[in-house]
Order: sequence, then C-alpha cells, then structure tokens
Amino acid sequence: MNASQESESARKLLPELFQLLRPHLSALDAFLEEQIASFEPEIREQVNYCIDTSGKRIRPSLIFFSGWKNEEFVDPNLVKLAGIVEIIHLATLVHDDIMDEADMRRKQDTVAKKYGNTTAVLLGDALFSHAVYLSTQFPTNEVCEQVAVAMRNVCSGEIMQTMQRGDPDITLEGYQRVINLKTAELFRVSCSLGAALAGEPTDFCEAAGKFGMHLGMAYQIYDDLTDFFGIQQTIGKTLGTDLATGKATLPLILMRDRLSGTEKEDLRETLCGNREPNVEYWLNKMATMGIFMEVRKAIFDEIRQARSKIEPYQNLASQSLLLTISDLIWNQVETLKSDQASN
Ligand code: IPE
Ligand code: IPE
Ligand code: MG
Ligand code: MG
Repeated sequence: MNASQESESARKLLPELFQLLRPHLSALDAFLEEQIASFEPEIREQVNYCIDTSGKRIRPSLIFFSGWKNEEFVDPNLVKLAGIVEIIHLATLVHDDIMDEADMRRKQDTVAKKYGNTTAVLLGDALFSHAVYLSTQFPTNEVCEQVAVAMRNVCSGEIMQTMQRGDPDITLEGYQRVINLKTAELFRVSCSLGAALAGEPTDFCEAAGKFGMHLGMAYQIYDDLTDFFGIQQTIGKTLGTDLATGKATLPLILMRDRLSGTEKEDLRETLCGNREPNVEYWLNKMATMGIFMEVRKAIFDEIRQARSKIEPYQNLASQSLLLTISDLIWNQVETLKSDQASN
C-alpha cells in the first residue's frame, strides 16, 4: 500500500461503511455548508475554511450508527446533531492547533497559520456559540444540556493539558483524565445522544455512551502513538509536536517509568523544555524497549472494553455497526509500524 492509498483508507476508514453512510454524510455536508450563511458576510470565507469536508467524520458516523434504523432513512435530527458535534470538534481543533503550534491540519494550513492566532481564537469561539445555538432547536433541553456539558469538558481537558505541559512527572491517571475529557467525552455524547434521538431505550443509550467513551480513549491513545510513529503526509497534520511541546502522552509516560539514571533525567529535562528534543533517539528507544507494543496493547484493551459495553444488544442493528467502527480503529492501529519516521 503506498502513502496515498493509505491516506485514502485513513480518511474513508472503510469503503463499505461509507457506502452505507453516503446519504447521511452528504446530508451532513449540506447542513454544514448551510451554516456558513448564519455568520456575518465579512467572516464567511474564514468560517468556510474551518468547515472543510475532508475530516474522517468519526463522531458523525458514531451518531448515525447509534441511532440507525435502516439504509433509506436519513433522520434530520441525527443530521443536525452530527452537524453540532462536528462543529464543536472543528472548533476544538482550531484552538488546539494554536496551543500545539501546528501548521498543518487535514492536509492544509491550520486556521491559525492562515488567518493568525487572534482570528483563530475568535473563530473557534464563534463556532462553539453556533453549535450551542443549533442545539437549542430541539424540542427539549436534553441535547442543549448534554452538548454544553461536553463542550465544557472538552475545554477543561485542553486547559488541564496545557497546565500539565512541561511537567515531566505526569501520572498515568492524570493523562487518562485529560484524554477522557478532551476526546472521549465527545465520542461518548455522540453515541448516547445519537441513540437517544432515535428513541432507543435508556439502557442502550447508556451502554452506547460507555462504548463511545472507551472508543474515544482508544482513539486518543492511538493518536498519541501516531504523533511519534505516523507519517505526516499520510495523516495530513503536523506530527511530532507532543515531545517538542512538553506534552507527556502515554508513550512518553511508559518510557519515562522504565528508564533509569541519566537517560531518565535526559527525558525529564527534554519534557521540561531544558533540552532540545532528539525525537529520533527517543523513537528508537520506544521501539526497542517495547513501548510501542505496550501502547498498542493499551489501545486494544480500551477497544475491548468498548465492545463489551454493547455486547448484550445483538438484536440492534446499531450494535454491529458500532462494532465495525471499533474494528476500523483496531485495524488502523495494526497498520501503524514502529519503524517509520514521524515526518
Ligand atoms: C483529531 O480527531 C483530534 C483527536 C481527538 C485525536 P480526528 O482524527 O477525528 O480528526 P478529523 O476530523 O478526521 O480531521
Ligand atoms: C486532541 O489532542 C485535541 C482535541 C481533543 C481538541 P491532539 O492535540 O493530540 O490532537 P491532534 O493530534 O492535534 O489532532
Ligand atoms: Mg494537537
Ligand atoms: Mg495528536
């Protein structure tokens, strides 16, 4: 598989699934494009740049599958929810790229690189606000309440991560708490609200939410492994920033805890920002110390836990579709190799 084929499969994840979701994702694209007209004419170009359609649409897919009825039925409520969640996700990415000093996102310049940090901060805010506005359009408060809480949690996770930056002594629990808030929360809400809007029983909504939470944890750990072992052109965003910006993610935490003597001190000093990061050196170290495989195992453990939460619901079409998304993420992890460069 060459890099461009790989990139295609990374974006589309699995053709059959996307064939199934094609009408839903087209409706989502149309819904997102319609939203641009709500913004002032002077900033529509910038909003349009933020709302690009090249993302993998993982959260919308979780929404559509959690509330799945049949192939023909595209539920406008699910499309609206998918639009809301995708807009929140985009806003978090716009802000995240400022904090991570990243230049590339979805194979193009980040919003911050193109329009500057000040505009990017406010564009993110405007997108957040629009998502809340859209979520008031449901007949009950449930969506609005859950979406607002999820947004608060995502931002809290990002703030906590910013406060942890440069701290070489982050605990595993501290890391897990941050990724639960910043990533797993939106996956959780996508699944539980998708099921709720489709009228599924409360027990399934809760189970789907737990599935989403564990899948989101797995996805962020996978992303953190990719930051070291992914190919930037394939993934389409700036990689290698975690060590450079003192973000102690799972691969670094596990390596730090296994090192001793001067090597441990070197890594701590690098995380503190007192030493230039020698990414190549630490990549080799991770591979030879078995850290790569250990992180993979942590991802697979989360995916297994996710799957177990919806195991009892074999009678629901949603169950097998959600399991398929978990298979896709599993497969993505398996294709990641420990011997590829990060750039
Ligand atoms: C990127 O999310 C941010 C993380 C939580 C790791 P995605 O990988 O879903 O980004 P897009 O939407 O496909 O660009
Ligand atoms: C995820 O963390 C960011 C959000 C949840 C907003 P990362 O900083 O690792 O995401 P990428 O790698 O920039 O997409
Ligand atoms: Mg980032
Ligand atoms: Mg990342």
